[in-house]
Amino acid sequence: MTLKVLGVESTAHTFGVSVVGFSGGKFEKPSPENTRVLSNIVDKYPSSAQGYIPRKLADHHSKSFKRLFANALEVAGVRSCELDAVAYSFGPGIGHCLHVGFVAAQSLSEFLEIPLIPVNHALAHVEITRFFCGACNPLVVYVSGGNSQIMALDAGRYRVFGETLDIGVGNLLDQVGRFLELDPPDALGVERLALKGTKLLPLPYSVKGMSFAFSGLLTALKKMRLETVEDKADACFSLQETAFSMLVEASERCLCHSRNSEVVLCGGNARSNRLKEMFSLMADEQGARFCVATHEFNGDNPGMIALTGLLMLRVGAVPAEKAPQQRIRIDSVKIGW
Ligand code: FE2
Repeated sequence: MTLKVLGVESTAHTFGVSVVGFSGGKFEKPSPENTRVLSNIVDKYPSSAQGYIPRKLADHHSKSFKRLFANALEVAGVRSCELDAVAYSFGPGIGHCLHVGFVAAQSLSEFLEIPLIPVNHALAHVEITRFFCGACNPLVVYVSGGNSQIMALDAGRYRVFGETLDIGVGNLLDQVGRFLELDPPDALGVERLALKGTKLLPLPYSVKGMSFAFSGLLTALKKMRLETVEDKADACFSLQETAFSMLVEASERCLCHSRNSEVVLCGGNARSNRLKEMFSLMADEQGARFCVATHEFNGDNPGMIALTGLLMLRVGAVPAEKAPQQRIRIDSVKIGW
């Protein structure tokens, strides 16, 4: 390997450390032929009925670092002195959590005297999917707890065409999972129970051009009388069908304008089988190739941070600003690769 980059992920509930190795030549672009995720070690703080408390997440992350760092190096078969750079999640994310990852990465960078690379978390979700699927210039649909955006690369930046006007689709599903006291009390609980639903209940459908809003859905669902398991299953089924249809409609409208030949679905909620099915159908109908990463690389993972750090390092795009930013947007990053 000619380059080895360590990645630290710590934006929310997941802490992780990864090593990515690049063995290509000076003018070769990183691809699955010359680049490997040598290790991708994560420890997720479990979801609970109370939701996540930032201080507890930060505590979990700081206690996990030493163990995960040692594990990531061991699995990769790499010694710390062989690392060429350290990348970390710069934002967007929860301030407490971002700070833990930043301090860990900064300390390593100073100790090993290697570059410190701040990586935009949303961009990392996009890049790992492009990398594994070989997508060149896709329409990107990024779906997570914190955000939901439709975008495409134009003049060296990801331009956001449409996005949620209130909460991310993942936040909507997690809140419903907690409200209905599902097991687990999150989007996965909703997805599992939705499989048993049969009735499509009327719920607010709010698409505004290429953007959308989800909080009305949450309010409507909270006002329903949902007493039996069957009622809850119908509610989960209807919630997914309605919210996902909104995402697909807005994305299809974007695609009709942008005419990208690929559609990338990425982010934590790209693990939803129903969402993948709906996007795959839409892409097919529009003559576009549907691209989605595996389960491991759709959730928050340090491999995507290390890979994006590698891409940035290769083109010399290492920002001087290092302190994490909770609300940084993907369109603030100049794409030079
Ligand atoms: Fe994420």
